[in-house]
Amino acid sequence: MLKSFLLLSCILTVAEASTDAPWLVGTGIADCTGPAAEVVMMGYGDSEHKTAGIHMRLYARAFIFVDPASHDRVAFVNVDTWAATEAVIQGVERKLHAWFQGQHYSRENLIVAGSHTHHGPAGASSYMLFQFSSAGRVHQSLDALVDGIAEAVWLAHHNIKPANVFFGNGMVDNSTVPNCPMPNCANRQRSPSSFMHNPEVERRKFFGEDNADRNMDLLKIVNAETGKPMGMVNWFGVHPTSLNSDYNLISGDNKGYASYAFEQDMNGPSWVQRAGRGPFVAAFAQGVSGDISPNLLGAWCTNSGEKCDNQWSVCWSNGQHKNSLCLGQGPGRDKYESMKILGSRQKTAAKTIFNRTTTPVGTGVDHVLRFADLSKYWVDRDGNGTWVQTCEPCLGTSFAAGTTDGPTGMDEFGQNMTPSNGFMQFFAHMLTLPSAEDKRCQAPKNILLRPNTVRETVFPKVLGFQLVRIGQMVVAAVPGEFTTMAGARTKEAIKKILVDGGVIEETGTVVLNNVASGYAGYVTTYEEYQHQRYEGGFTTYGPYTHEAMTNILVQMAEDMADGKKNYPGARPQLTRKDQDWENIDRVLVDDPPIGGQFGDVKEDVHPGPHWPGDTVRCTLWGAHPRNHLQRNSSFGTVWRWQPNNASDVSAGGSWVFTADDSDFDTMFSWRREGISASLVTISWTVPDGVPGGWYTIHYSGHARKGGVTRIHGACGVFEVQNAEAMMPFKPDELVIPPPPEIDTPDMPLDRPRPPRTPPHLRGAEQGSI
Ligand SMILES: *[C@@H]1O[C@H](CO)[C@@H](O)[C@H](O)[C@H]1NC(C)=O
Ligand SMILES: *[C@@H]1O[C@H](CO)[C@@H](O)[C@H](O)[C@H]1NC(C)=O
Ligand SMILES: *[C@@H]1O[C@H](CO)[C@@H](O)[C@H](O)[C@H]1NC(C)=O
Ligand SMILES: *[C@@H]1O[C@H](CO)[C@@H](O)[C@H](O)[C@H]1NC(C)=O
Ligand SMILES: *[C@@H]1O[C@H](CO)[C@@H](O)[C@H](O)[C@H]1NC(C)=O
Repeated sequence: MLKSFLLLSCILTVAEASTDAPWLVGTGIADCTGPAAEVVMMGYGDSEHKTAGIHMRLYARAFIFVDPASHDRVAFVNVDTWAATEAVIQGVERKLHAWFQGQHYSRENLIVAGSHTHHGPAGASSYMLFQFSSAGRVHQSLDALVDGIAEAVWLAHHNIKPANVFFGNGMVDNSTVPNCPMPNCANRQRSPSSFMHNPEVERRKFFGEDNADRNMDLLKIVNAETGKPMGMVNWFGVHPTSLNSDYNLISGDNKGYASYAFEQDMNGPSWVQRAGRGPFVAAFAQGVSGDISPNLLGAWCTNSGEKCDNQWSVCWSNGQHKNSLCLGQGPGRDKYESMKILGSRQKTAAKTIFNRTTTPVGTGVDHVLRFADLSKYWVDRDGNGTWVQTCEPCLGTSFAAGTTDGPTGMDEFGQNMTPSNGFMQFFAHMLTLPSAEDKRCQAPKNILLRPNTVRETVFPKVLGFQLVRIGQMVVAAVPGEFTTMAGARTKEAIKKILVDGGVIEETGTVVLNNVASGYAGYVTTYEEYQHQRYEGGFTTYGPYTHEAMTNILVQMAEDMADGKKNYPGARPQLTRKDQDWENIDRVLVDDPPIGGQFGDVKEDVHPGPHWPGDTVRCTLWGAHPRNHLQRNSSFGTVWRWQPNNASDVSAGGSWVFTADDSDFDTMFSWRREGISASLVTISWTVPDGVPGGWYTIHYSGHARKGGVTRIHGACGVFEVQNAEAMMPFKPDELVIPPPPEIDTPDMPLDRPRPPRTPPHLRGAEQGSI
């Protein structure tokens, strides 16, 4: 054991070790939660949708796969964020380059993939269109993501062990989730009319009578020495938009909850193993989800109760068309319950597949990276000399309408380009002037905006694509939201090349990870594009966007099959000027309540007794959460008193950790009181199985007054009962000290910091990320 451990330690620097296991795998998880107050959330494009606390912390989950034979490696990181933006990825790359002194990890062999939650802080893109709702960049959002992702890789790297890796798949339906409602168990086609425009033979071939991809692909990682499971990654397509834009606590939404619940099942509940610390890491990665909604009951008019799941998605109110009234619903009674149901079903399906998966994934790793300018890409459409071209990025009028998962409230615009407001469009055109050539190239899109007229960096043109092979599984990271059919076509095309080229067998798998390796809107098929629902209106490079991207990925697959290592092309240069457009209000000062102190309790907990399912709440005078993000730590914590002798009060005892911000059962919410005071509420819903006893809630924050200082607050003691445990004594008999201060490390990991910038990243942007 010791010997193999020592060998393992060496392998990271000296490529010498050998082991009988077919793989060396490392898993790591790190907190990447950004600013938890007064920062716009990314996804719904709604500048009123701002953070006001944390429901569940956001995590980066990293997996490193090393081939012991060749010592080659690839890494995959799934992140609870809207999308892996170019700014985030380049920041991570720079950080890893410094920490690992240029070795091991770069964009070439590392995929950074977003989960696509719409409940994380915005401002982590350098393209102006994606900074619009947040009125610019938010450094804290970007830094939290870059740091958390790099830390997850760092932890995974130092956790590499001999492992067996298996792969499998299954449908997320009643075969993996007992009694799940069919056919929409955990995902639903939100643009069925658009999907129906694809050729019938093709629809049948891929999906039979169905209109959505219900398949989940999964990797299972098991420690080869102990036989213990180490981790799991699965890919399944569904928007993590169960929560809507009224919900203002930070959350990983349904996929975040699924990861949390799976990890808890494997690691134990929070009072046994603090959430977000491993050792088992479960990532619910995004699959092909462009047109896939979590709102399983379909779209209904909130005013009339009529169905609006049709090609128009509009409701009528006083003779006016209102797309903002047509909303996706279900399956829960409210959005919160829906999120939990969607997460649970994905978790249950993953567990079923995980349990039965025994097929080794095979051996060997490989990777190909390619950057391409999508604004002028030629592709031979039918392979017979019919050359078609992509266009300058433009957004159609149906983009402005939004979707039933999140209408924009701009009722002037609708799906399929109608209704469309002539005046607004005229106004938009004055700003961005699409040319006759744009209109011809983008036809039939009714162009609303040509973003790059304003400045070349409003919308991306150069995009990164990645293919990574882990044995018989190939992950294609795509910088956009492929729709169901677009994804099916592309996966088939990639797989054909890889199978023909002998890279994988017919039984191998190609998965497509949306919103990875960058972000550039949606990608519909040519047929869907003709009908210009939201997804088509947001397919920005014209009707051949999908053909172009597929062509790029097919060429990359050919390179992989030929063993070629081509120059990937120049990555986008993110200029300092575009990134430094930051516009959020600074926190100037925090004030305690008049006549009081930071940490004073305003409304204390109810002393109880409380039973599982009850919610305990405490409100305190705190400070602005943006003064310190408290990553890998917590604003709120729950503690249980552990007596030294249950029948002797005077024997004392100690507080043991029970739950924190990361837990589903806790909520930390913030609101401003008056001009500069903050009220924070920490709540805890008593979970099943928690030991009975005496509990308390604790707050920890940072206040700005002169400098920034740590502040604390302790709520009262309350009683939790459960069926087994009897309370040995009453609270007034107890003399209980406040709980310990929990660790809030400024620099959680001790890492080397050589002052080197990768040569290919030097330039105008240096130092700005
Ligand atoms: C799943 O649902 C289908 C359609 O309702 C039904 O025919 C089938 O028997 C169900 N299977 C299981 C395992 O429940
Ligand atoms: C998976 O297997 C574990 C251990 O054998 C078991 O506890 C669990 O219930 C199984 N889960 C499913 C969904 O089959
Ligand atoms: C190429 O093939 C397509 C589809 O078969 C056909 O419509 C088109 O006319 C062909 N073009 C040429 C130049 O042969
Ligand atoms: C706990 O306290 C009781 C009552 O004072 C005493 O009888 C017992 O020995 C104590 N147990 C231990 C393990 O000290
Ligand atoms: C978070 O804190 C734990 C315990 O203090 C530590 O083991 C872990 O390495 C930290 N994670 C990061 C990413 O710093």
